[in-house]
Order: sequence, then C-alpha cells, then structure tokens
Amino acid sequence: MTQSDPAPEEVVEAERAAAEAKAAAEEAQRRAEELAAAAQAARRDAEESAADERTNDDPTAPDDDESIAAIRAGYAFDGPALEIGALVVDGRARPDVPVRIPFGMLNRHGLIAGATGTGKTKTLQVLAEQVAAGGVPVFAADIKGDLSGIATPGESSDKLLERTRGIGQDWRPTASTTEFYCLGGLGTGVPIRATIEAFGPTLLSKVLELNATQESSLALVFHYARKSGLRLVTVDDLRAVVAFLDSDEGKPELKAIGGLSSATVGVILRKLVAFADSGADVFFGEPAFDVTDVLRTDDDGAGIVSLLEVPGVQDRPELFSTFLMYLLRELFSTLPEVGDTDKPKLVFFFDEAHLLFRDASKEFLEIVVQTVRLIRSKGVGVFFVTQTPKDVPDDVLAQLGSRIQHQLRAHTPQDAKALRATVSTYPHSHYDLEEVLTQLATGEAIVTVMNDKGAPSPVAWTRVRAPQGSMDPTPAETIAATVETSPLGAKYAAVETTDGAASVLAERSRAAAAEASAAAERDRTAREAERLERQAPKTSTSSTGRRRSTRMSPVERAIGEASRTAAREIVKAIFKKRR
Ligand SMILES: Nc1ncnc2c1ncn2[C@@H]1O[C@H](COP(=O)(O)OP(=O)(O)OP(=O)(O)O)[C@@H](O)[C@H]1O
Ligand SMILES: [Mg+2]
Repeated sequence: MTQSDPAPEEVVEAERAAAEAKAAAEEAQRRAEELAAAAQAARRDAEESAADERTNDDPTAPDDDESIAAIRAGYAFDGPALEIGALVVDGRARPDVPVRIPFGMLNRHGLIAGATGTGKTKTLQVLAEQVAAGGVPVFAADIKGDLSGIATPGESSDKLLERTRGIGQDWRPTASTTEFYCLGGLGTGVPIRATIEAFGPTLLSKVLELNATQESSLALVFHYARKSGLRLVTVDDLRAVVAFLDSDEGKPELKAIGGLSSATVGVILRKLVAFADSGADVFFGEPAFDVTDVLRTDDDGAGIVSLLEVPGVQDRPELFSTFLMYLLRELFSTLPEVGDTDKPKLVFFFDEAHLLFRDASKEFLEIVVQTVRLIRSKGVGVFFVTQTPKDVPDDVLAQLGSRIQHQLRAHTPQDAKALRATVSTYPHSHYDLEEVLTQLATGEAIVTVMNDKGAPSPVAWTRVRAPQGSMDPTPAETIAATVETSPLGAKYAAVETTDGAASVLAERSRAAAAEASAAAERDRTAREAERLERQAPKTSTSSTGRRRSTRMSPVERAIGEASRTAAREIVKAIFKKRR
C-alpha cells in the first residue's frame, strides 16, 4: 500500500498543476468573453453605422457636416444675392447656411410653386422687396389683393421675430415704394389700356376663345385693316371693320382678302359683340400704356414696385393673364438688348400663371415660349407663380433657372401623380423629394437656383424669410391716396377719342351716303329736265325750225330749191299723163 501511495511531494506537485490548469481555463474563459463582447460591440457599431446611412436617406437629410458644408458652398456666391432663407436640418433652421439667388441670375427666370396656402405669395413678396431694395424695378399682378401689403411696413410679433432670428434674418418693418395700376380704369389704380392692334390677333383670339380657324381669320382681318390704313384702337374699331367685311359693300373686299369665309366673319362679329357687352371693351383704347413707365426707381434709388390690381380674375382668367403676357411682350419689343448684366432691368412676377397656359393655342404658346426665352437678353427676369410645375409647359419650364417649391399635397391619386411629376423635374439630390415635398411646413420650400456660373445649385430644404412689408393688404384709403398723387395719373386718366377704324369707316360711310344722295339729286334734276323738255315739244321744234331755216347755207338752200323744183316737175308730169 505504501508502494502505491504517492509521495507527499508528488501530491503537492499535482495540486499545483491542477491549480495552474484551472487558472488557465479561467483566463481562456475571460478572454473568450472579452472577444465575444468586442464582437458584439463591432456588430452594434456596424448596425449603428448602417442606421446612420439610413438616416441619410431620410427626408431630413443631409445632416452630416460634409453635405451641409457642400450646400453652404453651393450658395456662397460672390456679388449681391437675394436671400431666400436658411437651410433646414432635422427640423431646425441653420442660419449659417443661407439659401440665395445671385442678382445677376435673376434674368434666368424662376418658378414659385406649391399647394394653396403654402406660402407662394409671401415668397413672391420676400423676393420682390429685395429686388426693389437692390435698385431694380418690379412688376407684379396682385391677383388676390394680398400683395398690396408690400407698400406698408410689416408688423412685428414675437412669433415672427422668433422665426426671423432662427433663420438669421435681421427683420425690420419696411415699405416698398409702390405704384398701383388697374386694368382699363376698373378698380383703384393708374389705368392701363392697350390698343387692339398692339394686342394683336393671337392674344385677342385667346381672350375671345376663338378656335384655330377663327384665329387665322382674325389675323386676316388685322392684316386687311393694316393694309387699308384702318387703325384698330378699340373693340369698336375692330367690330366696325369686321361688320364692314360682313356687309354688302364689304363683300368684294372680303372676297379679295381670300381665305376668309363670310360665316367665320359672322362668328367673330358675334363674339366681339358679346365681349363688348360684357364690359371688357374698357381695357382697350388710348392712351395705351407705355410699358417703360414700370422701369422707374424712387428718390432713394430703390426700384419702384408696380402692382397691377386684377380683381375677380376668376371671372375673366383669359383676359387678365393674356394682358400680363401682352405687357411682357411689349417690354420685349420696347427694351434694348443688354445681354447678361450684374442686375436685371426689371423682374416680372406672374402669379396664378396656370391661367395663362390653360387652353392656350399653339401660336399663343409659341409667343410665350419665345418671349420668355428672348426677354432674358433684354435684362428682364420672369418668375411664374403657380401650384405645380406641371402647370407650366415643358418648353417654358426648361428655361426657369430658379425653383422654389413649397409643399405639395398627396391626398388623392391625382395629387400623387402630380407629386411624382414634380419630383421628376428636379435634379438628383440627397433628399427623398417625394417624401420631403409633402412634409414642408408653411413658408418652407425646396430650392434650387442657377448659381453664378450658370449651373444648378444643390437642392436645399429652406425656411423662407418673412416679408418686411405687411402680410395684410394695404388699406384701401392708402392705396387711393397713393394713386391720387401718382405722377402717371394725368398721363393715363383721360380716355382719348381716336382716329380709329370705327370713326374712319363711319366717316367713309357718311361720305358715301352723302355722295349717294348727291348722285340721287343729280339724277332727279336730270330726269326733271327731261320731263320738262318732253312737255314742250312744239314750241321748241318751231323755234328750232326757224333758227335752222335762217341758218341755212346757200348750198342747202339750192338743194332745197332744186328738190322742190324737181317735185313740182314730177307732180306736173303725173297730172299731164292723167289728162
Ligand atoms: N415666409 C413666410 N413667413 C411667415 N409667414 C408665412 C410665410 N409664408 C407664408 N406664411 C404664412 O402662410 C400664409 C399663407 O401664405 P401665402 O398667402 O403666401 O400662400 P399662397 O401659397 O400664396 O396661397 P394661395 O394659393 O391661396 O395663393 C400667410 O398668410 C402667412 O401667415
Ligand atoms: Mg397666393
């Protein structure tokens, strides 16, 4: 037994080895746990960074420093710029990232779009105020009467100041020098009128809702009037020419023009009569508005804001929107070429622009597209304001350098379709625009502009500045008082009587009538003379006979004698034979 029992030192050695093995096992266990923890941490990190990446796809992105810096750089232009507002990141404004439009790029046009009540008109006001403050005149149509506040300093409130501070706007109540206009003297403002001939057949056809055949016929009527030296100033003038061509006297002229059917002329005439009866004829006449009157600055060198009051546009959308197009085209044909300059000559805001394109003819659209394209080099910037970019034809949209898109709704399948269509017109960006465009708050917009190099700026979720003029309309008395003292009042107030076609044709037909009655008188006199002559044939013949006999020449007398002698001889011979 002694032999099999281990020696005491061997027991000690074995116990030591067992303890060592246990410690090693414990160490291994600890190391394994550590590694597992590290692996888990790594997994967690990986998950977190994946989550981060997802956040970058989130509508509120970009929120990493790098992309914010890229947006900041994308709007840091040299030279003066219009401040639209500040970038929004994670629902908070970043006053250190201003979103702007270079002044020199305003003639590359723009679009302000968004659903009802999302802030389009206030954005227009924000831009218009800064354009004017920068010394550039502004023309805008005040469709709903809510832009007139631009003429009155805004009212401060805690809420307003909190907003403006948040976007780095040093808000001060400021009024812009404003001139109020109205169409044809309807409303409060300096009356703006146009002559029919300057308005032209294409725009007039849109107003009269003529079809293509009628439109080309109207063009022929204009051509005829021009060729015949008949001025088309008022609706009456045009009516007179059309009525003349429709009349018996005018029929040969109508035939000579060619391509103009009497039936179509009749339709045009009826439409003109209805148009005049609706009171729309007051927009046409003289003195015609001289568009260069909107290119004025005030005593402080600020651009004057010309505000055209257009009440009840829903009643006559074609007329009012077409009138704005007319003014734009007049500007185009009047202004000299200036190319690209540091700042434009005028910025023209076209609110409710969808009215302009609704049911527009091909010719009309061509005029719009061409005017918008070419007016740029005359130094005029045009901003269309409407609900969705899809209201604007692609040819026009393609020419709009700056885009300020307010919230769009996606309640109905149609909304969703319009939303997708809008998104498709934007350059690629970090944003999920389909999502973002429905989440924008009132007064916020998705912005991209043409930068100072002519390239698109980064797409930026922007909280728009607040107007410094009033957000409420200017009181009617203030507007009336401004109009009262306007230097343009005297120039446009009185309607001039004209030398238009109506009076010329009326004069012509008066002259023709006078000539006709003079001719009739001559005729009557002649007939009377004849009658008198027939009544007194004897006296007149005998006297003539006497005269004749006294005037007989010797030869005649000889012949007379000879024939009488011959007759006598014949008679004698006859009687001789009978005897
Ligand atoms: N930039 C802004 N700063 C402060 N408030 C704003 C701003 N933009 C819009 N709002 C608020 O939202 C309201 C509606 O804005 P606005 O009249 O500009 O909308 P809109 O898109 O023109 O609407 P509509 O389609 O009816 O013409 C304003 O009366 C104002 O209270
Ligand atoms: Mg509006």
